[in-house]
Amino acid sequence: MGSPPEGGGLPAGGELIRSVRNPLIQAVRRLHRSSGRLEQGLILLEGTHLLQEALGLGLRPDLVLVTPDWLDRHGALYERLPEASRLRTASPEVLAAATTTRHPDGVLLTLAVADLPVAASSPPGFVLALDRLQDPGNLGTLLRTALAAGVEGVWLAEGADPLQPKVLRASSGAALALPIERMTSADLHDRLTEAQGCGQQLVAAMVPEAGGVVRPYWELDWCRPTVLLLGNEGAGLAPELARLADHWVTIPHSPAVESLNVAAAAALLLLERPRQAHGRPVP
Ligand SMILES: C[S@@+](CC[C@H](N)C(=O)[O-])C[C@H]1O[C@@H](n2cnc3c(N)ncnc32)[C@H](O)[C@@H]1O
Repeated sequence: MGSPPEGGGLPAGGELIRSVRNPLIQAVRRLHRSSGRLEQGLILLEGTHLLQEALGLGLRPDLVLVTPDWLDRHGALYERLPEASRLRTASPEVLAAATTTRHPDGVLLTLAVADLPVAASSPPGFVLALDRLQDPGNLGTLLRTALAAGVEGVWLAEGADPLQPKVLRASSGAALALPIERMTSADLHDRLTEAQGCGQQLVAAMVPEAGGVVRPYWELDWCRPTVLLLGNEGAGLAPELARLADHWVTIPHSPAVESLNVAAAAALLLLERPRQAHGRPVP
């Protein structure tokens, strides 16, 4: 892209959008909802950090909407925008109306869903499977840890939409880097059975008092091809999915609490694989 303007004058990005009734702003606002994302095939990302993450992953924003003040402060980032991205400027009030955050930092962007990573055809060596996770903050946090732990695929049975702005923010961009597949609970059941058929161990994360043969998570060999399965915040793991598992593991803790937050539990479990793999090859 060309250079940002120096001093006064009309900033790059054409005429400043001053009305929330502008059709472009209305289209961006529709991306707050999953129906709008589906209809337009786009997702909405808010903030400088997510723009940097998207560019770092080689993704090409469809639209970049900024305030003149943001453009003044981020000339270097502006220079990195691909030629094909559309840059538009809007007043701070209009930009705020187009975002889902209370205090946007002056930029939003849209990306084509079709440009996001797709699942590999062969079963990945480390998969995170989530049963009806509801909370966008939990889901985003989990995705961030999953990427850090070397997860290669994420299977979601229903629950929160991973492409909603809250999840994208909470994942700090990890949701853009991971192949994520959303499916029905019945399809997840089939997918898990298939994975077992391909030699992957299916590991269910259970609360300590789950009963049955539950063992501490560190006793498992996490370096084998693994699918880790975690349950819903309230109801836990659906019994039919738990029954499929080859192993039930738990993080032992005081009975003063019934369970851990799902994202907190996932952090320990997911990072056990790289911890065990330290110094030995992982298939
Ligand atoms: C908040 S818990 C659900 C609690 C639910 N009442 C139950 O009985 O499962 C959500 C999920 O986090 C995981 N989890 C929570 N605490 C755990 C622990 N101590 N060890 C292993 N997994 C845990 C499990 O996968 C669980 O289904």
